[in-house]
Amino acid sequence: MTLAFVNGRYLPLSQARVSVEDRGFQFADGVYEVVAIVGGRLVDVDGHMDRLARSLGELRIAWPMSRPALSLIMGELVRRNGVTTGLVYLQITRGTAPRDFRFPVPPVRPTLVMTVRRVARFGSPTQLADGVAVITIPDIRWLRRDIKSVSLLPQVLGKQQAVEAGAFEAWMTDADGLVTEGCSSNAWIVTDAGVLVTRPADHLILDGVTRRSLLRIAGELGVATEIRPFSVAEARSAPEAFLSSATTFALPVTRIDGQPVGTGRPGNLTRRLRQVYLETVCGVRP
Ligand code: PDD
Repeated sequence: MTLAFVNGRYLPLSQARVSVEDRGFQFADGVYEVVAIVGGRLVDVDGHMDRLARSLGELRIAWPMSRPALSLIMGELVRRNGVTTGLVYLQITRGTAPRDFRFPVPPVRPTLVMTVRRVARFGSPTQLADGVAVITIPDIRWLRRDIKSVSLLPQVLGKQQAVEAGAFEAWMTDADGLVTEGCSSNAWIVTDAGVLVTRPADHLILDGVTRRSLLRIAGELGVATEIRPFSVAEARSAPEAFLSSATTFALPVTRIDGQPVGTGRPGNLTRRLRQVYLETVCGVRP
């Protein structure tokens, strides 16, 4: 039986409920995190908790419990579900109150939901061997994409468009044709000179926890890095492209809008970064 954690209680998933007046449901007034589980351990959990703290702070949503308690329960939920390879989803909303755009007065208790899911792997053998396809679409989101908000409608539509085009992900572009990020991942390329390029983490993208770790690893490996936007055209002609997220780690991108990236095969730097991420962040033995 799969267990969820809702507002202080471990419950069978089928009995886990939040109110119809929850502000997450009514207004998407909430934040979330997705954390990978490898070998029964939470991957990059401090980075995810730091980002959660930031998202909550930016929206002035209170912690439903202390940060150490939240981390402890996340681990306990994973343990109780006996999941060794999977994902933890955590949602915190401003809470339940009669529908009114303004923040509830007095403040209500934030809603906390945690669920765990088993996954087979973070990228299938085929995806790793052949790379994945992305399409490009206009970025129609709000201007505070740095907040990991549960308001994900543009990403839902974008991902569906990708699926219908036979692609894995949609890379969104700004008015200048520069790639912002994927619907649920960050976007990267490698230049002819072997320089790793990814967009700066300002208000226009989510600062991926995986992105941060990969940048640190690149630094440790002595890989030259440029933090700057890149265009779809530059990505198409780059020798390597990849995406990153907690659900995929570094995953090669070998087709953009139906055109091959470089030789159309996954690149060596992508492979190396993924490998070192698995070994040093996930604790997977080589
Ligand atoms: N998405 N950009 C966006 C818009 C995202 O939704 C995500 C993650 C990322 C990568 O962040 P991280 O490396 O911290 O996972 C970038 C999660 C996985 C999701 O919504 O399922």
